[in-house]
Amino acid sequence: MSAQIIDGKAIAEKVREEVRQGVANMQAEHNYVPGLATVLVGEDPASATYVRSKQRTCEQLGIRSIGHHMPADSTQEEVETLVRQLNADPNVNGILVQLPLPKHLDEEAILNSIDLEKDVDGFHPVNIGRLAMKGRNPLFIPCTPAGCMRLLSETGVELNGANAVVLGRSNIVGLPMAMLLQKANATVTICHSRTKDLPGMLRQADVVIAAVGRTEMVTGDMLKPGAAVIDVGINQKEDATRKRGYRLVGDVDFESAKEVAGAITPVPGGVGPMTIAMLMENTLRAAEISLAKK
Ligand code: GUN
Repeated sequence: MSAQIIDGKAIAEKVREEVRQGVANMQAEHNYVPGLATVLVGEDPASATYVRSKQRTCEQLGIRSIGHHMPADSTQEEVETLVRQLNADPNVNGILVQLPLPKHLDEEAILNSIDLEKDVDGFHPVNIGRLAMKGRNPLFIPCTPAGCMRLLSETGVELNGANAVVLGRSNIVGLPMAMLLQKANATVTICHSRTKDLPGMLRQADVVIAAVGRTEMVTGDMLKPGAAVIDVGINQKEDATRKRGYRLVGDVDFESAKEVAGAITPVPGGVGPMTIAMLMENTLRAAEISLAKK
């Protein structure tokens, strides 16, 4: 039997519509418009594309977008000075420093300099620390893992007591994802390149989150029948039939996996659209936090 295909495009549109409504209500009731500042350092084309997409989505939802583009040779002090200015700006509710930063910059110090209440990426060490700890709640949850959680809840996947495998341990996805699943009472295993028996681990999993960046490495024979599979990977696979010479595929081999899984996200059109939608939700929340303090 073929799996339910989890429609990330439709669920992301639902989230955006909720945010659009929330922004319109805020404007009507408080005459206040949420603002998101993006900070792009350097010329990485993929980062520039992501930032443009974030700015465009802001505009579509009625959120003010404030873009800062700094040269690749900007100093630590220059980037931190900009972040401090944005921290002090009452029109800025969220600050997003696009990663990765050029190698000479200290990413940890820059993320640390973002005001906790404007940390819409949820990457501030205090927000991550709260995510990790029992009985504490972060102000913001990192956008891609938050998007995966929303896909699971919209699909009706039971996490309470479920065995979950997170494949990958990045700061942006794998680590916060594992912490979120644990908070939702799943039994979580984090697997990575040194894991000894990955297929054995995966075959125990009711929920699989694949976020390693390796083309189609998870195949159907590694899955437990009926498992919910969320594929965070976006990899280029050679394809001579496409004009650009490649197509985008995930970390999961969709064709074989969909014959075993109970539900699965496609690539593209699964997790991808959710990340920016969740950023918009976080930005609206940041504006609500700011209004509540006034
Ligand atoms: N680079 C890749 N993903 C992200 C993200 O979610 N936020 C930021 N700031 N940078 C990224």
